[in-house]
Amino acid sequence: MKRNILLFTCFYLFSVSYAAEYIPITTNNTCLLLKVNDKKRLEQSYFGEKIRNIPETESVDLETFSAYSTFGTNHVFEAALRAVQSDGNTSTELSYVSHTSEKKGDDVFHTVISLKDDYYDLFVDIHYNAYQQDDILEQWVEIRNGQKKTVRLTGYASSDLSFNARQYYVSHFHGDWANEMHISEQQLTEGIKVIDSKLGVRAHQFTHPCFILSLNRPAQENDGTVVGATLAWPGSFRFNFEVNNSNHLRILSGANPYASEYMLETGKVLKTPELLFTYSNKGTGKMTRNFHRWARKYGIKNGNKERSILLNNWEATYFDFDETKLTRIIDDAAKMGFELFLLDDGWFGNKYPRNNDDAGLGDWQTNKSKLPNGIPYLINECKKRNIKFGIWVEPEMVNPKSELYEQHPDWVIAQPHRERTEQRNQLILDLSNPAVQEFVYNTVDQILSSNPGIEYVKWDCNRYVFNSGSSSLSADKQSHLFFDYSKNLLEIMNRVSKKYPHTTFMACSGGGGRIDYGSMKHFDEYWISDNNDPLYRIYTQWGAQYFFPTIGLASHVSVSPNHITRRSFSLKTRFDVAMAAKLGMDLQPAQMSPKEYEFSKNAIQTYKEIRKTILLGDLYRILSPYNSNRTVYMYVNEEQSEAVVFNFLIRKEIYPAPPNFVLQGIDPLKKYKLTEINKDPDNWSRFNKYEGKIFSGDYLMKVGLNFAMYDEYESLVFKLTEVK
Ligand code: GLA
Repeated sequence: MKRNILLFTCFYLFSVSYAAEYIPITTNNTCLLLKVNDKKRLEQSYFGEKIRNIPETESVDLETFSAYSTFGTNHVFEAALRAVQSDGNTSTELSYVSHTSEKKGDDVFHTVISLKDDYYDLFVDIHYNAYQQDDILEQWVEIRNGQKKTVRLTGYASSDLSFNARQYYVSHFHGDWANEMHISEQQLTEGIKVIDSKLGVRAHQFTHPCFILSLNRPAQENDGTVVGATLAWPGSFRFNFEVNNSNHLRILSGANPYASEYMLETGKVLKTPELLFTYSNKGTGKMTRNFHRWARKYGIKNGNKERSILLNNWEATYFDFDETKLTRIIDDAAKMGFELFLLDDGWFGNKYPRNNDDAGLGDWQTNKSKLPNGIPYLINECKKRNIKFGIWVEPEMVNPKSELYEQHPDWVIAQPHRERTEQRNQLILDLSNPAVQEFVYNTVDQILSSNPGIEYVKWDCNRYVFNSGSSSLSADKQSHLFFDYSKNLLEIMNRVSKKYPHTTFMACSGGGGRIDYGSMKHFDEYWISDNNDPLYRIYTQWGAQYFFPTIGLASHVSVSPNHITRRSFSLKTRFDVAMAAKLGMDLQPAQMSPKEYEFSKNAIQTYKEIRKTILLGDLYRILSPYNSNRTVYMYVNEEQSEAVVFNFLIRKEIYPAPPNFVLQGIDPLKKYKLTEINKDPDNWSRFNKYEGKIFSGDYLMKVGLNFAMYDEYESLVFKLTEVK
C-alpha cells in the first residue's frame, strides 16, 4: 500500500469511508493502531500511549497480531470467531472490506471496520467507540449471516487484544454471596488462563466481569502500565488469556460461548456485548479515575445527579411489618434527615402471602393484610414528611408457591425429565419467551404507573441458572438460552429506563451478583453486597471501585452485631464506611439510644455537605487493605477545593509507628484547612494535633500526615477545605 495514503495521524479521524493501511483508534492519550496488511487481513500493530506520527511506524516492521482471529485455517490458538458455515465448512478467513469513522458529539469517535469471509457470505463489523477525554475504548462486534442457510457460531468474542511484554500479571475479582469483589493477582505462564462465569443469571456472584492486566510487573497504584477491561454484560462471560510459545499474550473477551452455540439464521445479526477498556501508564489509580469519569458521563444512569440518602427496612424488619410499623419508620427516617424510604421484600402476594422467601414471588399485588391501604398510603405518608418513596421488586423470578406459577408452569427455565432445582425456593422466568419478556416489563411498568410517586426501585435477582432448558426455544436453539436471556433482559431494562428516566433504579442481585456496564446504563445505583459488616465492606467497596463509580455504590449502616458475621462495630465506624460511598441505613432509628440517634442525625447532615465530593470526586487510593494494617483513600472534587480522607484500621496495632502517608490529587499551590468529621464528641481524638490547621497542598502531598490508630476497626475521617 502506498505511503501517501497515510495522510492522517492519531489526531485525525474522518467521517468518510476510505481504504487505508492504518486505522488508528485514538483517545486523548492512547492509541490502538490497526493495520490492513498486504493480504487484506486486519491486524493490531500497536496499543499504548498515543503516538504523534503514525507514518513513522512504517520505517520498521512492527510486529502485528490478528485483530480478530478466526478458526480453521492457519491460526493455531484460541480464536475470537469460530463459525461453521452453512455447508458445514468449519473455517473462517476474514478480509478487510472498508471502514468508516465518525464523530459523535465532541467527545466520541465511532469507527466501524467491515470484514468479510473470503469465500462465504459471512460479514463481521468491528465497532469501536473512542471516548476522547477519559481514554476509554468500547468495542463490540456484529456478525451477519448472508448465506442461504443457518451458520453455527461456536465462539463470538467481543474483543481480541494482543500484547508482547516480558511478563504478564492479571488481577481479577471474585467471591460469593456476602463476600464479593476480592482481588487476586497472578502471573500468567505459558498456556491458558480463563476467568469466566457460567451462571447465566446473577452471573457475577462468583466472578465479576472485569480484569486488570499489568505488563512486566505486578500492578502498582501510581505507575506502571496497566490495561483495565470490563464486559458490559449481565450474563455469563469469558476472558481467555493465552500466552503462546513466543510469549505473546492474546486476550479474548466476550459472552461465554460455553454451552452457548448460536444458530445464526439467514440475514440475522449477532451483536456481541461491549468490552470497555482503558490503557494507563500511571498504574491502577489512573485506570480507575478513567472509568469513574467515563461512567458518570456515559456508563451509569444519571451519573452526575446527586443521590438521596435512604433508609431501607430490610434488616430493620425483614418480612415482618405492617402499615403501622412502616409509618413509624418513615416518620423516624424523615426526622433523622433521610431523603427516601425504601420498602423491601414482603409487600405483595395474597393467596400466597410473601411472609418469607418461600411464597408469593411473581404475584405483584399488594398484600392486603399487611398493607390494607396499599402502596399509595405509604407514598402519601412519605410525601407528608417530605421524603421520597422506593420499592423492591424481583421481576425475573417466581416461587412455585404462587399464582403466577399455577397459571404458567411452563414459563420457567427448566429441563424436561430432570428434577427442578430451586434456590432460595425460587425458579427463574424464561426470558427467551416473548410472553415472559412482556410479563417482566409489565410487572415493573404496572407497579410504577399504578402507584404514582414511586421514585426509587430496587430490582433484585436472587438466583442463578440450573437446568438450563427453555420450553420456548426450539430443540436446535436450546443453547441460545444464556445469550438470549441477557440480551432480552437488557432490552427490558432499556424500555423501563426510557419510560422512567427520572426514577432511580438500584441493581441488586442477592448482593453484588449483577454489576456490569450493560445493566448500569439503566441503573443509578448498585448493591455490592448483603454483608454490611464494615470490615467486609472495606474490601468489597475497595474491589468494586476499581471499575465502578462511587456515585452508584450504595452502602448502608446496619445493625450491630452484624446479622451475617455476628461481629460488633461502633456506630461511628459503620457510618464512616457507609459514608465512604453512597450513604443509606438498614436499621430502625427507634432502636437507637439518644446518643446514637444524635450521632446519626449529625452524620447524615455532614454527609449532605460533603457528598458531592465523595460521589462526584476523583478517587485516590493511598493505602491498600491488602498490604497494610490501615487503609486510606480520599476523594477530591473537580475544583480541587475540597477533599475527604477516610482511614480505617483493619488489624489491631499494638505499637503503631506508621510512616507518614501522603495525600494525592489536591492542588500543591492551594492551602487547605483540616477538619475531622464524624468526631466522637466524648472522646479525645488522635487527629487533634491537626484539627483546624492549615497546610499547603504541596506539604500534604510531599511530607504528608501522621497519626497513630490502635484499635481494630477504628476509623477516622477528615476533610480538607481550601482556604483563600
Ligand atoms: C436480596 C437482597 C437483599 C434483600 C433481600 C430481600 O438478598 O440482596 O438486600 O432485598 O433480597 O429478599
